[in-house]
Amino acid sequence: MDKKTFYITTPIYYPSGNPHIGHCYTTVACDSIARYKRMQGYDVMFLTGTDEHGQKIEEKAKDKGVTPKQYVDEIVEVFKKLWSYMNISYDRYIRTTDDYHVEAVQKIFKELYDRGYIYKGEYKGKYCTPCESFWTESQLDENGCCPECHRPVTEAKEEAYFFKMSPFADRIEKLLLETDYLQPKYRAQELVNNFIKPGLEDLCVSRTSFTWGVPVDFDSKHVVYVWIDALSNYITALGYENGAYKDYEKYWPADVHMVAKDIMRFHAIIWPAMLMALEQPLPKHLAVHGWITFQNKNGEAQKMSKSLGNVVDPFMLGERYGVDAIRYHIMREMALGADSAFSNEIMINRINSDLANGFGNLVSRTVAMADKYFGGTLPADREEAEVDASLKETVLSLRGKVDECIDGTRLKNALEEIFVAVDRANKYIDETEPWKLGKDEAKSARLAAVLYNLLESIRVISGLLAPFMPNTMPKVWEQIGAKADDVTYDNLGRFDVMPADVTVHKGEILFPRIDMDKEIAELNAIIEKNMAAAKANLSDAEKGDEFTPGELAEEITIDDFARADLRVALVKSCEKVKRSKKLLCLQLDDGFGGRQVVSGIAEWYQPEDLTGKKIIIVANLKPAVLCGVESQGMILAADTPDGGASVVFPDQSLPCGAKIR
Ligand code: MSP
Repeated sequence: MDKKTFYITTPIYYPSGNPHIGHCYTTVACDSIARYKRMQGYDVMFLTGTDEHGQKIEEKAKDKGVTPKQYVDEIVEVFKKLWSYMNISYDRYIRTTDDYHVEAVQKIFKELYDRGYIYKGEYKGKYCTPCESFWTESQLDENGCCPECHRPVTEAKEEAYFFKMSPFADRIEKLLLETDYLQPKYRAQELVNNFIKPGLEDLCVSRTSFTWGVPVDFDSKHVVYVWIDALSNYITALGYENGAYKDYEKYWPADVHMVAKDIMRFHAIIWPAMLMALEQPLPKHLAVHGWITFQNKNGEAQKMSKSLGNVVDPFMLGERYGVDAIRYHIMREMALGADSAFSNEIMINRINSDLANGFGNLVSRTVAMADKYFGGTLPADREEAEVDASLKETVLSLRGKVDECIDGTRLKNALEEIFVAVDRANKYIDETEPWKLGKDEAKSARLAAVLYNLLESIRVISGLLAPFMPNTMPKVWEQIGAKADDVTYDNLGRFDVMPADVTVHKGEILFPRIDMDKEIAELNAIIEKNMAAAKANLSDAEKGDEFTPGELAEEITIDDFARADLRVALVKSCEKVKRSKKLLCLQLDDGFGGRQVVSGIAEWYQPEDLTGKKIIIVANLKPAVLCGVESQGMILAADTPDGGASVVFPDQSLPCGAKIR
């Protein structure tokens, strides 16, 4: 009988800057699942790749004075080098510039057109260049910026093709709310409320203002919208509408697409709509995870960004602590759905406590005792005791628990389960006190049983850890005397697998303890250097990588400006607006008896950051109600390169009500 198949994908990455630890998360997670599934006997297809078209790439290449293809070729090499360094066992790597993909996207576009789902019209609206996304007025955030990255959007008006998505609204709503397509499920309602309930709008799917994309073959001044091009990769890489591969029948529909939350909408709505329009089966699961943010010295979580210099370099970490320790750390920290703040302290603590003290110590103590008391080879005579039962029970039930976590893409939980068993085995050493047994010749059979049970526990634990830490576990097997046959998936569900007279081999320390103080000092120095360099050295072009100032608004006269009444005001008190993550409500002394203003800055400011400070307000703005709270004006803030907002603080000695001219 044919093997069961399992198809898993990462997003295809933009080669618009070097990859960082954030990009590693999805890829390492998918790799761990792919390895686990292979171990379970599945015929696995693990796909990753790069999303190489679009205006952003075209602009960056222009800044660097190279062609877009030259530009992406160079960065794609860095991605591939990183994946090989991180031990990523992908089966296929797709580049959207590959000829077969380009041809297939053209056919897909034509197919959608022929079926009547794509039509020609005129696009008028807002475009966010960094996100390559079109937005309608109503979708913009409180500041009229991109609702994803909060950067300014530009006006766009051009002849364009549109994809009719409304025919699929009901089916998509059902898919999100009534099936387990989306994981975690709690995000489904938010998507339905934000995008489906207000009416699924037609999507603009072609551009004429740049050329770096897949040309629409029946109307060559248009290039295909980069998300239609990119999402198609999941099927073109299997051979859909092309002759490069013949795997579509075998692997489609995908078992898991794994993505981060910022690109959930594309995978939860647009991608299913495309497949429905093409009358193709839908993928089985979309697993959405949060972001790895950078925890700064003040304990605040920041988005990783080149312009802030806080980007964590996976090569640097791997060199210092080993690739497996890094893989372990990112998998162990991130719960599916939530963000996870990257901190050097947490990473080093985690490596020291779980890997050096917990697992590493379990292996080295067990092997050292087998060596010391029995010259490395256990005697066949073993005497079991009651205390052994609970250890065996923990170990025997482990595989089932890990299977479940893998199937739910809950890798953090899988590792937690495995480390419950590590702790149980370490506790078993304390309970059985083998060093005491070793002093008494008459207790040799009992000692043999204790060490054998420990070696068996390590065999199962290391077998289940191997998909997460593929470099280190073969070294463990070497040390505990396990053969390849002992760590097959079947045997990881059994105890008493290795021969009674198993021979151990003392080996290198698996995870050396890290000197916290020394490493933190060195890592902080690296980050500080990077941050300073980021501030001082970014060329204008590179600053442009991270920050798009947006187009200047149309010219106004001094009289136009004078119509806006800007005043200094004091924040007397400030609190979060209930039911909103973004809004703060400020009570102000404006020099005219006081007023209340609501501002969308809660992601970047705590109420206490503003209380007692003077700020600038637009005092004659028509009041508006935001989330049920009236706002009498707005406060001035600037865009920051990382997509945040920075409140403008005037000279604090200015009186309340002072006019800004
Ligand atoms: N090209 C699109 C994806 C197209 S898939 C058909 C894209 N590329 S990306 O390079 O910008 O991002 C790829 C993935 O990496 C996204 O899921 C993105 O959210 C994720 N991450 C980028 N930085 C991240 C963190 N700091 N943490 C976790 N994931 C992050 O979007």
